[in-house]
Amino acid sequence: MRNFFLNKVAIVTGASRGLGREIARLLASKGARVVLAARSAEALEQLADEITRSGGQALVVPTDITQQEQVERLIQATLDHWQQVDILIANAGQYIRCPVDKLTPEIMQQSMAVNFYGNLYQVISVLPHMRSRNSGHIVLILTMDVKTPIPPDAPYVAAKSAMSGLAEVLRQELHGSGISLMAVYPGRIDTSMIANLSFSPISAKIPPIVVAQAILKGIERRRSRLLLPAQVHILNMLNFFFPAIADWTVRLFHLEGWEDN
Ligand SMILES: NC(=O)c1ccc[n+]([C@@H]2O[C@H](COP(=O)([O-])OP(=O)(O)OC[C@H]3O[C@@H](n4cnc5c(N)ncnc54)[C@H](OP(=O)(O)O)[C@@H]3O)[C@@H](O)[C@H]2O)c1
Repeated sequence: MRNFFLNKVAIVTGASRGLGREIARLLASKGARVVLAARSAEALEQLADEITRSGGQALVVPTDITQQEQVERLIQATLDHWQQVDILIANAGQYIRCPVDKLTPEIMQQSMAVNFYGNLYQVISVLPHMRSRNSGHIVLILTMDVKTPIPPDAPYVAAKSAMSGLAEVLRQELHGSGISLMAVYPGRIDTSMIANLSFSPISAKIPPIVVAQAILKGIERRRSRLLLPAQVHILNMLNFFFPAIADWTVRLFHLEGWEDN
């Protein structure tokens, strides 16, 4: 059977832990050459060692995605090493929460710097190369909170929503270009990002490997949007057709105790 990922070059940001590490591992296990980016160089080196020992290929490029020149260097380092970028997984992100009453411009700017501009820099740095080859896959990791926002996530939701809006436009602009764009809207994933939160049945945590597998399948099928798990679809539909009931559901399952988070 044809292996879609064999020898493809895939950049994964936020590869030092959590979902990004899982995606990078899975890509490498399928024969992709992976470029590991995040700020924690040591964690990236450890993952690269693990991948190499398993017979895979990995390149470590420590990167702070909030710095445009570092993101440009990440793309250039990949091209210098492997002369191509087939897949960009813009996964790095930061969960920044604050009730709107207490929000300061600095908190909002921090969330925008990571969750919006960090992604934007990745997209605009890789696009000229992908356009020149008329091929490529861009994956943006957003959040179900864009579809069903919950308190007190305003800084996070606002930045991810801005990225979601940009993704919807970019997908139209890329139509016919040979470059696919997939926006991913996951529910709660079992990573350190949300280790301190308590959970309800409608937002049970899913293992990162399950999300990673769904993302790789989505890339192969050139899907444009990926919502998971099933509860996210239900909440999304509820929000669209019965917004008052969706608000009630969020209050019922999420609101209690959120001030402490
Ligand atoms: N966990 C969830 O429930 C959940 C749900 C929906 C969506 N998501 C999204 O999924 C993605 C991965 O989240 P996760 O759960 O795996 O979180 P995580 O375990 O906290 O990992 C976040 C990753 O992003 C990297 N990162 C953060 N700021 C960065 C920066 N300025 N420059 C470069 N890398 C940076 C971190 O690496 P360094 O600290 O080493 O830089 C780390 O590798 C995020 O975009 C998140 O918003 C998560």
